[in-house]
Amino acid sequence: MSVSEKKILITGGAGFIGSHVVRLFVQKYPQYHVYNLDKLTYAGNLENLRDVEALPNYTFLKGDICDAASMLELFTKYQFDGVIHLAAESHVDRSIANPMEFIYTNVVGTVTLLNAAKEVWKGKTGKRFYHVSTDEVYGSLGTEGYFLEDTSYDPQSPYSASKASSDHFVRAYHNTYKLPVVLSNCSNNYGPNQFPEKLIPLMINNIRHKKPLPVYGKGENVRDWLYVVDHARAIDTIFHTGKEGETYNIGGHNEWKNIDIVTLVCSIMDKKLGRASGESASLITYVTDRPGHDMRYAIDAGKIERDLGWKPSLQFEEGLDKTIDWYLSNEAWLNNVTSGEYQKYYATQYQ
Ligand code: NAD
Ligand code: TYD
Repeated sequence: MSVSEKKILITGGAGFIGSHVVRLFVQKYPQYHVYNLDKLTYAGNLENLRDVEALPNYTFLKGDICDAASMLELFTKYQFDGVIHLAAESHVDRSIANPMEFIYTNVVGTVTLLNAAKEVWKGKTGKRFYHVSTDEVYGSLGTEGYFLEDTSYDPQSPYSASKASSDHFVRAYHNTYKLPVVLSNCSNNYGPNQFPEKLIPLMINNIRHKKPLPVYGKGENVRDWLYVVDHARAIDTIFHTGKEGETYNIGGHNEWKNIDIVTLVCSIMDKKLGRASGESASLITYVTDRPGHDMRYAIDAGKIERDLGWKPSLQFEEGLDKTIDWYLSNEAWLNNVTSGEYQKYYATQYQ
């Protein structure tokens, strides 16, 4: 999609990754108008966007992507040129506790947006619907191998099953109705503004409060970590130069066992908090494994590197250091998001 005056709808822009995408687009493309549509669930927080909310090319729209009448009204009123769809329920453990929410938002919500785009974009050219997805749709790897764009789908959790379903609908709308779509499947993200129910910010927050650090099973599961700003850069690249109908895998070439990450976070935080070496690691507590826990995720990001010239920019140690510094200097943010509904959820998980 070329860079000229455009109206871009970003869904889920108040969440973790969405807020970094909104910031990048609002600042890098002053000729665009960015509309951030978000329901503001427990995971959505407008504080994530305080630094850009007053800019003239940004508008926040509170809404639910499952509300078909409102979505049609919005698409008709604003005549968006492009959609970058990130709104979702995103946490695997919550999907195990309550799968229906994931089916509503991730499947019904995505199809509701596809319908609005199909309806309002009928007969028009120069449009693009970009669906942001996860590598978890491919299932679990053994010790060898990587996920490629043509790896068969094999989702194992209710979260990944809902994302796999939404990916299939996006491709079906391209195939059946010629909706101009592009997709990406990315590995685990980390960085500022991630809700502290996910591994890295949860450990940072618990170390801060000297609370137990729950490591599932033996801590040997492997994830491939990417700094969130690098994911936002990849989304920018794919939105503008990705080929219509194509899928791009995004990853950090950065595989870590959970226990090694937790140990690393502990040692960095001991130093930053002036604690004795080993003090935070003594909080590590092995807990019952997550049911159906995928063993290993690893992305082959060769296609986006070769075809679109994107590469991760940040080394993990540097990104992790920046991330820990951000959480330590944003205690008010952490206290705010971990109050209320989160406390109720967390209390039921780890008694
Ligand atoms: P997040 O949970 O931090 O944010 C999700 C946002 O969506 C929140 O602001 C929430 O308020 C909003 N939202 C939820 N339901 C909504 C609804 N019905 N209508 C409108 N808004 C709604 O999620 P995230 O980690 O930033 O993930 C964003 C996207 O990227 C998701 O689609 C996720 O599947 C995908 N993804 C995430 C990762 C990761 O590591 N976090 C990796 C790959 C892909
Ligand atoms: P998570 O951040 O939930 O991301 P995902 O499940 O989508 O990969 O979890 C990352 C890994 O860390 C995963 O293997 C589960 C594990 N984990 C723990 O060991 N303890 C925790 O408290 C959490 C939240 C995750």
